[in-house]
Amino acid sequence: AEPLEIVAAAQARLGAGPLAGKRVLVTSGPTHEPIDPVRYIANRSSGAQGTAIARALSGLGAEVVFVTGPADIPPPEGIEVVRVGSAREMLEATQAALPADAAIFAAAVADWRVKSASDRKLKKTKGGMPALEFEENPDILATVSGMESGRPALVVGFAAETDDVIDNATAKRQRKGCDWILANDVSPATGIMGGQENAVTLITADGAEEWPRMTKAQVADRLAQKIADALA
Ligand code: C5P
Repeated sequence: AEPLEIVAAAQARLGAGPLAGKRVLVTSGPTHEPIDPVRYIANRSSGAQGTAIARALSGLGAEVVFVTGPADIPPPEGIEVVRVGSAREMLEATQAALPADAAIFAAAVADWRVKSASDRKLKKTKGGMPALEFEENPDILATVSGMESGRPALVVGFAAETDDVIDNATAKRQRKGCDWILANDVSPATGIMGGQENAVTLITADGAEEWPRMTKAQVADRLAQKIADALA
C-alpha cells in the first residue's frame, strides 16, 4: 500500500482525525448501461477524482463507503467498497449505504439507459441494424438531496461543464437541491477529463469560490477539509 493509505487506514482504525465518527458516502466512476449481455454504453470517467476524495476523507478519519462503477483505477485500501454496473444499481447501492453524515456524488452517471436491453446477444442480421431506444436514468444526487427523512446533513454534487461553467453549476445546485456543487470545465483543451489535474469552483449558498488549478489529490484534500469544517 502507499504510505498515505497506511496513514489513512491507521487513522480510521484509531478513530483519529477531524472526521472520526462520521460516515461519508462517495459515488465514483462511470456507469455501464447494458445493450445486451456483452455490450454496453459508457463514458470516459476514470474514477480518479472520486477515488482521491474517498482516500482524503478516510485520511481525516471518516468511515467511507465507496459506491463505484467500473473505473480504470483501483479503489482506495481500507474502506468499504460497493461495486456496481448501471445507474439503477448505483442508486440502489447508494440508498442501501445510507444513513450517512455527508454524501459526495462524484460518479459520472449515464443520463440514459437502453430501453428493454436484450437478455440475449443481439445477432448481426443481413441488412438490418438494431435501433436503440433510450429511457431516462434516475438522478441519484437529486433523489438523495430531496429525501424527506434521513437526508445526509451535507450533500455535494459535481458539475462537469464545457461552457458558462459557473452559471450552469449555480443553476444545477438549485435544480438538484444539493448543498454544494464542485464545478469544473471539462472542455477537451483543459485536459481535465482523464488527466491528473483539476480546476474547480466550489458553489455554495454563499456564492462561488474559485480554486486554483491543482492535482486531483489536492482538490480532494481541500474538499475533505471543507467537509470536516462543515460537519464539525
Ligand atoms: O446533471 P449532471 O449529470 O450534470 O449532474 C452531475 C451531478 O449529478 C454529479 O454530482 C453526478 O454524480 C450526479 N448525478 C447523479 N445521477 C444521475 C446524474 C448525475 O447522481 N443520474
